[in-house]
Formats: sequence, C-alpha cells, structure tokens
Amino acid sequence: MSPRPKLLLILPPGWGRYWEEPLAAANVRMLRDGQDPYAPEEIDYVLGFRPRPGFLKTLPKLKAIFSLGAGIDGFLSDPDFPKHVPLIRFVDETLSREMAQYIVMHVLIQHRDERTFQTAQREAKWRQAMLARPTEETRVGILGMGEIGFVAARRLRDLGFAVSGWSRTRKEIDGVRSFAGGGELDAFLGQCDFLICILPLTPKTRHILNTELFAKLPRGAYVINVARGGHLREGDLIAALDSGHLSGATLDVFEHEPLAETSPLWKHPKIIATPHIAAITSPAAAARYVLDGIAAMERGETLKNIVDMTRGY
Ligand SMILES: NC(=O)c1ccc[n+]([C@@H]2O[C@H](COP(=O)([O-])OP(=O)(O)OC[C@H]3O[C@@H](n4cnc5c(N)ncnc54)[C@H](OP(=O)(O)O)[C@@H]3O)[C@@H](O)[C@H]2O)c1
Repeated sequence: MSPRPKLLLILPPGWGRYWEEPLAAANVRMLRDGQDPYAPEEIDYVLGFRPRPGFLKTLPKLKAIFSLGAGIDGFLSDPDFPKHVPLIRFVDETLSREMAQYIVMHVLIQHRDERTFQTAQREAKWRQAMLARPTEETRVGILGMGEIGFVAARRLRDLGFAVSGWSRTRKEIDGVRSFAGGGELDAFLGQCDFLICILPLTPKTRHILNTELFAKLPRGAYVINVARGGHLREGDLIAALDSGHLSGATLDVFEHEPLAETSPLWKHPKIIATPHIAAITSPAAAARYVLDGIAAMERGETLKNIVDMTRGY
C-alpha cells in the first residue's frame, strides 16, 4: 500500500483546530506548521493562505499547493514562490454566494438610503422618502467577471439594476452588458453609478482604484471594494469622497490588515468599513475541496482551478 500523502497546514494562529476533524477522517497525514515535527522532503502538499516568503521553496518534493482563499496574491508576492508547482485556488459555490450577498447588501444599503433611515429611527423621526433613483436606471458596474463577479452580476440583474461587467475577455451573460480589455475601460467607468471591484490582485490591477479612475466615474458614484486592499489608493479615495465627486464607499479589504485603529478610513462619514469578512472560507468546504484534489492528483488526474502563472490569477 502506498504511504499516506503528507499535507502541511500553514494557517494563521488558532485556525488549525477547525481542520483537525474534517482532515482526520481522510487518507492523508496532516501536519501543522509550527506544531508538528517534519522533514521538508516529506511534505507532498501544502494548504495555506499567506505563507512566509521563501518558505515554500524549502519543500523540495511538493506536488501541489492549495490556497485557502480564492485570491492567491499572498503566494505570488513571494519572489521565491516555486512556480513549477501547481497552485490551486479555492473556488466554491458557497463562497461565491456569500460574496454576492455582501455586494448586493451594500448596493442596497446605499440605493435604499438605509443609513438615513437608521439615523431617523434613532431620533424617532418619521421621515418618508422615495428612492433617489429608480432601480432600472441605477447602473452597477463590476470590475472582474470571474467566479464571484458572475454570481453577483446575475443577482443584481435579477433585482432590476442595469448591470455591466469589465473583464479581460468578453462575456455573454443574459441581461448584463460586457466590456472587455483596457480599450473599453473608460466607456465602462463612464456608466457606473456603483463600481464594484472583485478583480484578482496582479501587477496589472494593483492600485487600479485611484484618482484618475475615480474622475472617470459619474459624479455621485459609490465604490465597493471587496477584492484586495492593494487595488485601492486609500488617500485617493478619501480625496474623491471629500471633494464630493464620490458619494460613498464600502471597503472590506485594506492595504494593511488588520486596519490600524488610527486609520481615517474607520471614522470617515462616507465609508462603511468591514474587517475582510465578505466571505470567510468554510473549513468543512475547504477540507472537502483539498482532500478531493489530493485524491484526484494521487490518481494522476489534472485539477481544475490551477493558477495560470503568466496571467497571475
Ligand atoms: N473580501 C473577501 O472576503 C474575498 C473573498 C474571496 C475572494 N476575494 C477576492 O476576489 C478576487 C476574485 O475572485 P474570483 O474567484 O472571482 O476570481 P476569478 O474567477 O479569477 O476572476 C477574475 C476576473 O477578473 C478579470 N481580470 C483579471 N485581470 C484583469 C485585467 N488585467 N483586466 C481586466 N479584467 C481582469 C478576469 O477576466 P477574464 O474572465 O477575462 O479572465 C476575471 O473575469 C480574488 O482574487 C480575491 O482577491 C475577496
């Protein structure tokens, strides 16, 4: 009988306990980085999120690396990342559904002027108001039409919004207008009352949300960043909000996480800030995903969702 493949978990402190039960039943030997003794050449697979730079190249016999998140920028930012080893990102229906829920919720909070009604309730004021703009005339644009952008676009379309998406390649989604490539970015931006960023973080998309881009949005646009903090120049956002060009923003991700207590983003009156919780990977779903992936690799099959190293996502 062939030996059980060895899977090294590289997880933030305290996360390991969620994995012990789902992984224990499997035909895989689990080792926790920093807790269990192992020799580097024993490790067949790694599961992690943001491993310390330079570490993965010290494991000479790795067959595959599984990312705990949909985003893999935390791996590729390592200059010594072993690019010959397949890197598999986490793609899961539940994760896409929860991301779409978060996006829809924050579009609706702004569209339905929810914060004004919350203030009125605290003051016991009966203040009725109509929608500032009819739903079908409210244009929602999504930067990034991959696994998550696609689900969010369909949910928003079904609620009656005028939805469009921007991606590298053109998409055919019923009732959703598709813009593709750098040449169509300005036309896309010019028709976004809401701009949602759900792009992967790559050298091409880093700091894409900046003063120049904001200037191309219609006055009063609302920005939602649920992708990565590295997409946004935070100072540029504050300037665009303070000048009145943008009406508000929802941020779930930040250049430096956790967001420092002193950051002006916490208390800005036009910003809703959440601590990277738009969707949190379920340990049970991820354990199933990784174990199925390892079993398939051990049978010699090629896996889905392998990162394309030339594209960087
Ligand atoms: N806040 C959270 O809790 C949370 C949770 C999960 C994920 N995320 C973030 O969400 C990101 C997206 O996840 P996903 O699963 O939807 O990714 P995905 O399936 O890889 O989709 C990426 C999309 O971005 C487009 N794109 C990439 N580079 C581009 C460029 N230079 N110009 C134009 N379009 C470009 C791709 O275009 P093509 O379709 O043409 O290739 C694709 O439509 C992740 O990388 C992660 O950072 C955040």
